Amino acid sequence: MSREQVPQVSDDLWTVMSTATAVRRYRGDPVPDDVLDKCLRAASWAPSGGNGQPWRFIVIRNKKLRDVITTASRQTWEVMKDFYRLPTVTDGDDDPKSRVLRAMAEHMHVGGGAPELVLFCVQPQRGTSEMQQAGSIFPAVQNFLLAARAQGLGAAITLWHGHCEPELRASIGIPDDWKIATLLTVGWPKGRHKPVRRKPVHEAAVVDMWDQPWSTQP
Ligand SMILES: Cc1cc2nc3c(=O)[nH]c(=O)nc-3n(C[C@H](O)[C@H](O)[C@H](O)COP(=O)(O)O)c2cc1C
Repeated sequence: MSREQVPQVSDDLWTVMSTATAVRRYRGDPVPDDVLDKCLRAASWAPSGGNGQPWRFIVIRNKKLRDVITTASRQTWEVMKDFYRLPTVTDGDDDPKSRVLRAMAEHMHVGGGAPELVLFCVQPQRGTSEMQQAGSIFPAVQNFLLAARAQGLGAAITLWHGHCEPELRASIGIPDDWKIATLLTVGWPKGRHKPVRRKPVHEAAVVDMWDQPWSTQP
C-alpha cells in the first residue's frame, strides 16, 4: 500500500485521543441518558479474550451506594496523602502539580456525588492470568473514556472501590466469581479539555532491541 493509500486517522479521533485526560471536576448539570448510553455502547464494542465479553458495566445512581462511595473516596484520600507524603494543598499554589493535586483532593471529597458513576466488573475466565483478565476489561474502560471525551464529557478512572468492595458487592449483588476493575466518575467538565502530557514516543517505543529507540528517521 503506498503512502497515499494509507487511510488517515480522522482528525476528530486524533483530537479525542490526545485530549482525553482524567477530568475530576464536574459541573452540576446532569448527563442525559442518551449521552451515557453512547459511552456504554462504545465500551461494549471493546475487544476481549476469545470475544468472551466477560463484563458488566454498572451505572450507580442509588443514594445509599453513592454515600458508601463517598466514604470510601475520602478514606482513599487519607491513605494516599499519607502514603505519598503529599504536600499540603494550598489555594495559592498554581503550578500544574498543585492544580492536579487540588483537583484530586476535591474529587475524592465529592466522591459519590459525581454526576455519574460507572463500575466496571470482569468475570475472570478459567486458567487466565490477572494480566489477561485486566486485558478483557480495560479496553472497554478506554472505549468508554474516548466516547465520553468525544461527546464533551469528562471522566476519571478510580480505585476507590478498594475501600468499599464488600458493601458494593452485597448491595449490587456482584457474584463471588466476578472482580471489580474500576469505578469511573463521569460528568461535564468544569474547565476545558487539555492535551495529555506524556513521555515522547521515542522513549516508549523501540525497534528490535530494548534500548534502540523508534525513530521516524530512515
Ligand atoms: C489503573 C489506573 C488507576 C487509576 N486510579 C486513579 C484514582 O484512584 N484516582 C484518580 O483520580 N485517578 C486515577 N487514575 C487516573 C490517572 O491518575 C491518570 O490517568 C494519569 O495520572 C494520567 O493523567 P491524565 O489522564 O490526566 O493525562 C488511574 C488510572 C489508571 C490507569
